[in-house]
Amino acid sequence: MEIVLSGIRPTGNLHLGNYFGAVRSFVNMQHSYRCYFFIADWHSLTTHPRPENIKQSVKTILAEYLACGIDPEVATIYVQSDLTETLELYLYMNMNAYLGELQRVTSFKEKARKQPDNINAGLLTYPCLMAADILIHKAQHVPVGKDQEQNMEMARKFARRFNIMYETNYFPEPASFHFSEKAVKVPGLDGSGKMGKSEGNAIYLADDEKTIKKKIMKAVTDAGPKEPNSPKPEAVANLFALLDLVAERDTYQYFNEQYNRCTISYGDLKKQLAYDINLFCAPIRERIIQISSNEAELERVARIGLEKARAGASQTIKEVREILGFRF
Ligand code: TRP
Repeated sequence: MEIVLSGIRPTGNLHLGNYFGAVRSFVNMQHSYRCYFFIADWHSLTTHPRPENIKQSVKTILAEYLACGIDPEVATIYVQSDLTETLELYLYMNMNAYLGELQRVTSFKEKARKQPDNINAGLLTYPCLMAADILIHKAQHVPVGKDQEQNMEMARKFARRFNIMYETNYFPEPASFHFSEKAVKVPGLDGSGKMGKSEGNAIYLADDEKTIKKKIMKAVTDAGPKEPNSPKPEAVANLFALLDLVAERDTYQYFNEQYNRCTISYGDLKKQLAYDINLFCAPIRERIIQISSNEAELERVARIGLEKARAGASQTIKEVREILGFRF
């Protein structure tokens, strides 16, 4: 079975954009690939978060992934900082990464600009740690967004360089895995762009019914169509796109017709949308609440994930040590 690996930055709660854009595909992929999903808590240290925040966000993201349907018995879900084998490979990656190429990485330059008082070495060697995350499992496919493409190129370069340097073909080059037609760009509620936490236009899987309704009712629209069958402005098209994701076909078609006939009530459309989003989120929300309250279960999941991840990772380290000329 081919290996898929994804690293998830623990940056808060999952929203509908995360769900339809990636998490749903992860859930589907569990059965056709050997999947490794890990929570990238080491990477999050580049911004010096408080310990209590790390602890909380790792728990949150773990609970939410499980609530969405990642099955810890099928996939391997673990916390990056538990798998200490990665650190050794990170060290080897650092030895073969050059200052110039690391300084040229766009995300390094961007972060250095954003946090000029904290341009730490971890920020610079971020691609080395990411490559170690991937290569420790010899992952072939890595689902990533566009913003990670340069880091992926570095990972491929480091794999290639290692192979050339040691005259081996030990590491496969990891391919970026772009979700095919299943990946959906989920729009935000503020009239333009996509849903994202930094944009403040997101509906979270953990949002309760009232919160969902409030957010939807506030979503941007316009004065309404003036002529039959006119194209929808972006803000309105966004609401329809959301409806398309969560509602029944008939419901979508009903409102679409209303729009085309210029008889649409945006208030009704929003009420319906809030209703369907809540219907969709409710079971996930209940599982989030249930799983989050069960600390022992979260611990158990992290432990079995680590055990599975460690089996292959320790083998990789053993083999890499042999290649490098270390006795073990
Ligand atoms: N850099 C990724 C991000 O910011 C997270 C990540 C860390 C990752 N290690 C990885 C993703 C390995 C894929 C593979 O989203």
